This record gives sequence, C-alpha cells and structure tokens, in this order.
Amino acid sequence: MAGDGEQDKKPAQAGNKGLGRLSRRDVLAGLSTVPALGLFGYAWNQQHKYQQAKADAAAASPGAAANVQEINIALLGAGAQGQVLTDSMLRIPGLRFRAVCDVWTEYNQKRVVNQLKKFNHSPNAYEDYREMLDKEKELDAVVIATPDFWHSRHAVDCLKAGKHVYCEKEMSNRLEGARAMVAAARDTGKLLQIGHQRRSNPRYLHCYEKLLREAKLLGRVVTISGQWNRALAPDLGAPDRYKIPEPRLKQYGFKDMHQFRNWRWYRGLGGGPIVDLGSHQIDIYGWFLGANPTGVMASGGTLYHDPATHEWYDTAMVVYDFDTPAGPVKAFYQTQTTNGSQGYFENFMGDQGTLLISESEVYGAKLYRDPNAPAWDTWVQQGYITAPKLQEIKEKTEGVTDVRESVSPDEHKVSIVLRDPYHQPHLQNFFDTVRGKGKLNCPAEVAYESAVAVLKVNEAIEAKSRLAFRPEDFRI
Ligand SMILES: NC(=O)c1ccc[n+]([C@@H]2O[C@H](COP(=O)([O-])OP(=O)(O)OC[C@H]3O[C@@H](n4cnc5c(N)ncnc54)[C@H](O)[C@@H]3O)[C@@H](O)[C@H]2O)c1
Repeated sequence: MAGDGEQDKKPAQAGNKGLGRLSRRDVLAGLSTVPALGLFGYAWNQQHKYQQAKADAAAASPGAAANVQEINIALLGAGAQGQVLTDSMLRIPGLRFRAVCDVWTEYNQKRVVNQLKKFNHSPNAYEDYREMLDKEKELDAVVIATPDFWHSRHAVDCLKAGKHVYCEKEMSNRLEGARAMVAAARDTGKLLQIGHQRRSNPRYLHCYEKLLREAKLLGRVVTISGQWNRALAPDLGAPDRYKIPEPRLKQYGFKDMHQFRNWRWYRGLGGGPIVDLGSHQIDIYGWFLGANPTGVMASGGTLYHDPATHEWYDTAMVVYDFDTPAGPVKAFYQTQTTNGSQGYFENFMGDQGTLLISESEVYGAKLYRDPNAPAWDTWVQQGYITAPKLQEIKEKTEGVTDVRESVSPDEHKVSIVLRDPYHQPHLQNFFDTVRGKGKLNCPAEVAYESAVAVLKVNEAIEAKSRLAFRPEDFRI
C-alpha cells in the first residue's frame, strides 16, 4: 500500500532513534504491551490530582473540621444556566448561598431557592439586585447568569459593591459594556472571571499546555475549522400562570414574554448563535494560537427562522485571519440552528498533525499524526496521548488507490476525561482564586479580547466585506 509501506522503509526519524530496523507497525505493537500505568501515568496523575484537590476541599467543607474558608455567595439570574451553575456549585465544598436574585419571581427564582433549601442553604430571595447588594453585606461573591445585555450593569455594580464576580459569557453584548467591566475590575481590585469554561477544562488545558506548547505535536498550525450545529428547537414559552406582569417585564427591558424567554435572538439583548455558541469556540482559537485575529470575513443571515422573532442571524459562516509568530493562519467557523448533525468541535490542522477537540464527550480530543511527521512514540509512552488506532489496511483497494491520495493518519486520543459537570472546574478555579489559592483562567482582559473577535462577526455580516482588527482594538 502506497503510504504505510513507504513509511516503514524510511530511515528512523527523531522520535524513533534506537529502534533500528523495526517497522512502525512493530513499534506500535510493542507499545501496546507497555504496562497500563506507564502508558497512562501522566493522564492518570492529572486526573488523580484533580480528584484529590476536590477530596481535600470536601474534607474541609462546612460541618467538617474546616480549613477551607467559607465563601458567601449569591446567584444573580436563576434561569437555565443559573440552574446549571447552581448544580455545579452544590458540588463545590465551602460555599454558602446567601441570596438568589431573579426577576422571574413566579418561577425561576422560586425553583432555585427551593432547591437550595433542600441542600440546607437558606438564601434570601430578591427581584432587584440593588436591594440585594444593599441588604446582603456579608456577600463575598456574586455569580451572574442573566441575559447578556444585563451583564455589564450587574457585574460593574457588584464589583463596585466590593464583591468578586463570576459572570457568564458573552461578557457583554456591547464592547462599551465589556470595557466598563474590565475597568471596574481594575478599579476595585476585585476578581472578575468570565464563563468561558473550556479554559478550566482539564482536557483543554492538557491539549494546550502539553500537546501544543510542550510537545508541539501539530507542528506549524495553518488552518482551523470549527462548528456548532444545533438542531431546530421551538421558541421558549411559559405557562400563563407563570407569566410576568407587563410593567415588570418593561422595567427589566423586555417588551413581552416571548422576548423575555427568547432574548438571545433579539438585537440589543443578545447576539444570536454566533455570540451565544461561537463565542466559546472562537475563544479557543485565540487561546490556542496565542494571538488575536487581524481580520474577519463573514456571511450569514436569517435563512430559516421568522425575522420578526429572530432578529439575529440564524446562520453564520466566518473566516478569520490570524498572524501568529509562526506564520499566518486561516480559521473557519460555522454555526447554524436548523440541523444538529455532527454537533460542535474545534479542529486545528498543522503540518505535522491535527487536533480535533470538543467539550462534548462525543468527540473528546483526538489527534491525527501526519504520516510524514516525526514519530509520537515518546508522547505515547509518557501518557500524553494514547497508542494509535492503526489505520485499516485497505487490501482490496490495493492497485486501485490513486497514488496521489494522502494516507490517512493514525488516530490517537487524549485519555483525560472530565467526570464533573462542564462548568465545575471553572467555578472551582474562581473560588480557589477568591481564597487566594489560584489564578483566574479567564479574567476580564482575556475575555475582552475574545468579545472583540466575536462581536465583530455580526458587523462583518452586515458590512458584507472583510473587516480589519488593529492590535489596539484588543487592549484597554
Ligand atoms: N457557559 C455556558 O456554557 C452557557 C450556557 C448557556 C447560557 N450561558 C449564558 O448564561 C446567561 C443566561 O442564559 P440562560 O440560558 O440561563 O437564560 P435564561 O433566560 O434561561 O435565564 C436568565 C435569567 O435571568 C433572569 N433575569 C433577566 N433579567 C434580570 C435582571 N435584570 N435581574 C435579575 N434577573 C434577571 C431571568 O428571569 C431568567 O431567570 C447568558 O449570558 C448566556 O449566554 C452560558
């Protein structure tokens, strides 16, 4: 077979030193006999360290002999994501819920307060966050999961009231709002973590620190592609008995119940799927490349939904230019909301390998070594990646295969699995930092850079032309 046989005849490459005339297939067969702990030692160790940190904290949780400082917290915004964050926070020892604030007093506020009571918290319930800040003097931190257009006001006021803040992405739907958040964090000296939770995900950290920075497995990254395809979903509603009276809706910036429930589709409130979904992944592009984009082209539109209720584009196809110290990179991103096929992932392609990574366990992280790249045996032995799944030998196609066809690379995996809810490590990182035992993985300045890159996409779709970024656009 053209490729694989050719590879076997090549002289030993850097990573193959000392292997003499053994074929690559022999080497791989040999690797499969390395004792499991040796092979996965690193990964196991990482996993163990993470579990141990949690166990230590649990042992010191309120009620136990506490050597962990208790943190008084409030949840501001108890909707779908507020619930997800609450579920994660209930698993983190040493947190005391003092308050829940939500304008949907008839439903979301009640639901979360009742849940917290079952876990022996007795939070006070508020509709107005200013009243909460006035009355809850003991609060150390506020976790914000309100709609994007409220983030800036909520975060700035909480910071100014002397609270540390964990605020969901997108940092703000407006850059001025995001800038005000950075300024408030700086002025007050309080912590502001933005909810790009992949930045604390052990799998992403491993791929960034070990595979890209240390082992440089991809070589020179030239292209990136990524997507979030989401299946068609009906608009969100609410039963009549839980409807919010109109004056209260208006007071909090919503024209009616449909807009209140589906705010992410409305201009001035959210940013549509590119901001809602794309912001997570475009953030990873910049993080992994260690660079901000220099330009963006985008095409999109409301191709399927009713523009009266879906003001933002339901489909976007985007190409970013990056100038990295290693050279130029083109990065494609697609999001659409009419078909969920193949879900969501980011795919980094270098001249030596490819990394396909996702927050979703459907993909996890997979690596493909280019057949011409130096061997990865050493990284397999250290447990950074698993031994490869050998490509199938396509005997039947022998002789028919076009000689110009590239040989498919072998597939390796990363064996680091996040067994906790996706948001838990990022929240844990925030609370560790509040306790003075860590450093934020996504502080305001970092999230701001990502917001600049993401919010520009909607402008580029509107402009129907390439928009350039200046380096100073990313600085405050
Ligand atoms: N990190 C992630 O993976 C992730 C996932 C989903 C959503 N999010 C983010 O979380 C935030 C919330 O999204 P969601 O899906 O939970 O929306 P949601 O509409 O389900 O919840 C928003 C909640 O905020 C409340 N609210 C609205 N205005 C308020 C105000 N002024 N004061 C107090 N409460 C107010 C609403 O009553 C509602 O309960 C958004 O910023 C979203 O982008 C992040």
